[in-house]
Amino acid sequence: MRFDIVGGGAIGLLYGARLALAGHPITIWTRTVEQAEKLADDGIELVREGTITIADVEAFPLKNCSRSARQIDDPDRVVLVAVKQTQLTDALIKQITLLAGQDTIVIGLQNGIGHAEKLYEALPHADVMTAVTTEGALRHGPRTVEHTGTGLIAIGEAIANEGRKSASNGEPIERMKPSEQEIRHKMLLDAFSKAGITAELSNEMNNRIFQKLLVNAVINPLTALFDVRNGELPKQARRAALMRALYEETHQVLAAAGMHGDEDRWQQVLQVCERTAGNISSMLADVQAGRQTEIDWINGSICRIAAQYGLEAPLNASMVQLVRAMNNTVH
Ligand code: PAF
Repeated sequence: MRFDIVGGGAIGLLYGARLALAGHPITIWTRTVEQAEKLADDGIELVREGTITIADVEAFPLKNCSRSARQIDDPDRVVLVAVKQTQLTDALIKQITLLAGQDTIVIGLQNGIGHAEKLYEALPHADVMTAVTTEGALRHGPRTVEHTGTGLIAIGEAIANEGRKSASNGEPIERMKPSEQEIRHKMLLDAFSKAGITAELSNEMNNRIFQKLLVNAVINPLTALFDVRNGELPKQARRAALMRALYEETHQVLAAAGMHGDEDRWQQVLQVCERTAGNISSMLADVQAGRQTEIDWINGSICRIAAQYGLEAPLNASMVQLVRAMNNTVH
């Protein structure tokens, strides 16, 4: 399979490197011309136990994003959308539509809530899927990514195909047969597993998205506010108490919205802190770089869901206000 990876962040580079090492042609579409040039000239540098350079990388800036009709209709193409929610603007989605033809698999990998609806709406002809990854990755520069913790990627539909029967002009959409789609999804899993990425298909994506949202709603704002790496967050008693209170509130909201499963979710949050102990969370990285954060899609989503279910979410609302205030020039 051929992969177009939209976004040269930590996850985009990690998956790009692993898929390229397994022999899949990849193209990375970056936000800056500088990063595309660097990747095309010097390749991706993947740090795990040692450092491997993947030299043969095709990379272009997103603003030049296009594919020929022949490439677009290649049934074995996958578009992996690995940008943050903040970057998934209407303009970027328009560029993604230039990469995705009839039945192209398009996978949205964002944290939080909001991306699935946007992608499904903009790409009614594509095979839009969402994914949740628990992989730990840290970008050290425009072409260097460190694989800091092994996780898995769960991929599936967050909105059933039946709910998307017509294009924006009201015309019914001719879709691939479910049996053909199933074969392609198996090929996709195969491509990931041959690349050393543990992948599974899930028909419970909304639940998975909620579970990841719970992790992000606790770890991301608190690491940003306290300016600590993930592993340090639970180590101090008062921080851990706040973490637990934010967890309880968020859990209650998501459980009301349908999050289910037997796993001990609090332990899972602690395990993510441990497994990604050396990581700077994506929200702390955004705050440090003075970039807009995903707070509105993470804790902001919890507040919106709480309102729908008649619940209060004062801690989540405070997180939104505090993180926004920390870099209020960019919101
Ligand atoms: O957003 C992030 O940084 C990651 O999703 C997580 C799981 C919090 C690890 O850093």
